[in-house]
Amino acid sequence: MKIAFIDPARPLPCNTGVGFCHEKCKLDEALSALDALLDGFVSEALAGLKYSGKRDEVALLTLPPAAGLSRLFVFGLGEDADGEEDILSMERSGGVLASRLFGFSEAVLLSSGMGEDVLASLLEGMLLRSWQFVKYRTNASKDKVKVPLGTLHVHVADVHTAQKAFAPRKARAEAVFFARDLISEPGNVLYPASMASRVAKHFEKTDVSVEILGEKDIRALGMGALLGVAQGSEKPPRLVVMEYHGAKKGSKKPPVAFVGKGVTFDSGGISLKPGAGMWDMKHDMAGAAAVIGVMDALAARKAKVDVVGIVGLVENMPSGGAQRPGDIVVSMSGQTIEVQNTDAEGRLVLADCLSYAQERFGTKTVVNLATLTGAIAIALGSEHAGLFSNSTELAGALRAAGKKTGERLWRLPMGSAYDKMIDSDIADMKNITGVRDAGSITAAQFLQRFVREDVAWAHLDIASVAWKNKDDALCPKGATGFGVRLLDVFVAAALEKA
Ligand code: BES
Ligand code: MN
Ligand code: ZN
Repeated sequence: MKIAFIDPARPLPCNTGVGFCHEKCKLDEALSALDALLDGFVSEALAGLKYSGKRDEVALLTLPPAAGLSRLFVFGLGEDADGEEDILSMERSGGVLASRLFGFSEAVLLSSGMGEDVLASLLEGMLLRSWQFVKYRTNASKDKVKVPLGTLHVHVADVHTAQKAFAPRKARAEAVFFARDLISEPGNVLYPASMASRVAKHFEKTDVSVEILGEKDIRALGMGALLGVAQGSEKPPRLVVMEYHGAKKGSKKPPVAFVGKGVTFDSGGISLKPGAGMWDMKHDMAGAAAVIGVMDALAARKAKVDVVGIVGLVENMPSGGAQRPGDIVVSMSGQTIEVQNTDAEGRLVLADCLSYAQERFGTKTVVNLATLTGAIAIALGSEHAGLFSNSTELAGALRAAGKKTGERLWRLPMGSAYDKMIDSDIADMKNITGVRDAGSITAAQFLQRFVREDVAWAHLDIASVAWKNKDDALCPKGATGFGVRLLDVFVAAALEKA
């Protein structure tokens, strides 16, 4: 969807208009003006349809020639908040509106009366909902009902102000799209090496520097846990390190670290998953994609922080060379792990990435994202991602960012009783408990064993929110890009302002 801001005094660029209405059929400023021009035609037609302007309520009117538009979509925004509409509800409305405009090639938004921030939120929502992953569909353009609007002309009182408010929102939506694109790619196309080079290419000519560590480098670092997962695959692993420096020169604070699980395909390994639904394990790198996406969003808006993004990329496959249940590996931290189940691989990858983040960058704040456990869907469904942390302050800041963006988090408990459950008889720990109880929590306990006590750490288990089986307001079914906007707002509110 292309967006072009225009002055309402200019001739109308197309014949489909979109106007806005609040509850009790209260037309907004631009629509009232049109109604006056047409001697009350719009309000009468809406009254005839018993239209009331409820949230998402749509009426389609055919207008008389004097309007200069032949068709008018009236879109309900619900209760009038007097220009104080909150960001979330405007984004949501934008998403719903965009889905209603699928199949149209052009439309003009009669939005000259809206404040620039309200409008920018609406437009970001429209963009987010209009993303599609159709590169492998040779007939996608024939599917009219699903083709997003081609061009949206947007009436604004001042083009410059509107553009300025919208630019960062557009950049952030594009960062989400990069994450969604990566997540959607199938495992034969996106594997550790191809994903790493795609990331390097993406950040060329940006303020994000990218370093790619290959198998030899990873071995030299002693990342035995990550390597154990990778060893069953023909595809060698990669560790991708992204750095962005936006803090004032001379800042002595170590960077905040975002760490992502990047299993480009999770078959389960020798502890093979059942066949049904296994295809969607191509999205087991969604944590890594979110980290990559947020690096993009932060650099695009020149955030005033130092951030490092670390993603561990591996493919988890069964083969004659694969690791066996019962194998013992030595992690980068020196701690030994009995791998009782090769399908609990995400924690093995993350363990070494967490050690690396702390050792190399001396970070004191680390947030990791991972599609870590199926159990988190049992606990929280897809309404919240799981939040685990050793810091009430960090957890609070993340939850606040979740509320602001709609990427909501729910904190779950941790503690020594859960920690004991991963003690091994033969090594320092095992990677499963052997029982189903508290599966998401014990996975978090495992990760915490690789976090130093003086480091504020949070783990987001995004296994039930990274991929959705049905459309929602801001995203068609499939990859959501969960975490990009969440972490962007977290950085802005908790780190830049602090
Ligand atoms: N990648 C999966 C978790 C997952 C499940 C993500 C469903 C998205 C949707 C993870 O590697 C895994 O297999 N976890 C196991 C852990 C178990 C063996 C302790 C699980 O959840 O079953
Ligand atoms: Mn697994
Ligand atoms: Zn996995």
